[in-house]
Amino acid sequence: MFITFEGIDGSGKTIQSELLANYFKQIRGENNMVLTREPGGTDFAEEARGILLKDSIDPVSELLLLISMRYEHVKKVILPALKKGKIVICDRFIDSTIAYQGYGLGVDLELIRDLHKLAKIKYPDTTFILDIDVQIGLSRANDKNKYEEMNINFYNKVRKGFQEIAIKEPNRCSIITEIEAKDNNQVHVEIVNKVIATKQALLGK
Ligand code: TYD
Repeated sequence: MFITFEGIDGSGKTIQSELLANYFKQIRGENNMVLTREPGGTDFAEEARGILLKDSIDPVSELLLLISMRYEHVKKVILPALKKGKIVICDRFIDSTIAYQGYGLGVDLELIRDLHKLAKIKYPDTTFILDIDVQIGLSRANDKNKYEEMNINFYNKVRKGFQEIAIKEPNRCSIITEIEAKDNNQVHVEIVNKVIATKQALLGK
């Protein structure tokens, strides 16, 4: 089963990815669980991450770089783990590209989808979108990358992007709302309940 976490900076995806990974480690064993992240996940992509988060380049160049980073990540880490029957949890994936490069920076959404299709990049089985107030999210984000220096208007567009993805793909995506009003443990319990409800974990997908 391939699970991703999405949301604006400061929404708590990283801590929720870790909490869910620990939950699966306890019930399925340490070796049956892979926790990874984007941008990154391979030596090449982790190195490219430094450039991506610092240098100002054209949004389409950004998209093409992200696609090559993702292709490496899927081919070398995600697919091999899934083939061995492991659960893979990834902190950000394709929906971040749709929300940030597409909704936020204005890259054509069809182009983003077509390039993923062309590269045969697998979609997650389940995606959790953590929805938080933009001002509160940004005040919680600790490391400042180039996106976090963008204005509120950009982040409102990114947030709207994630919300629209959740509406368009309800079978794959579960939105966890009002993150700002919940503590980490409450959000984790909500996520575990949704995982159990989908029964995908039990089917060992
Ligand atoms: P992340 O490591 O999640 O940062 P943080 O932990 O500070 O939330 O992601 C770094 C940045 O990369 C984040 O601001 C969003 C951006 N990003 C994109 O713009 N497009 C993408 O496809 C991905 C995966 C990330």
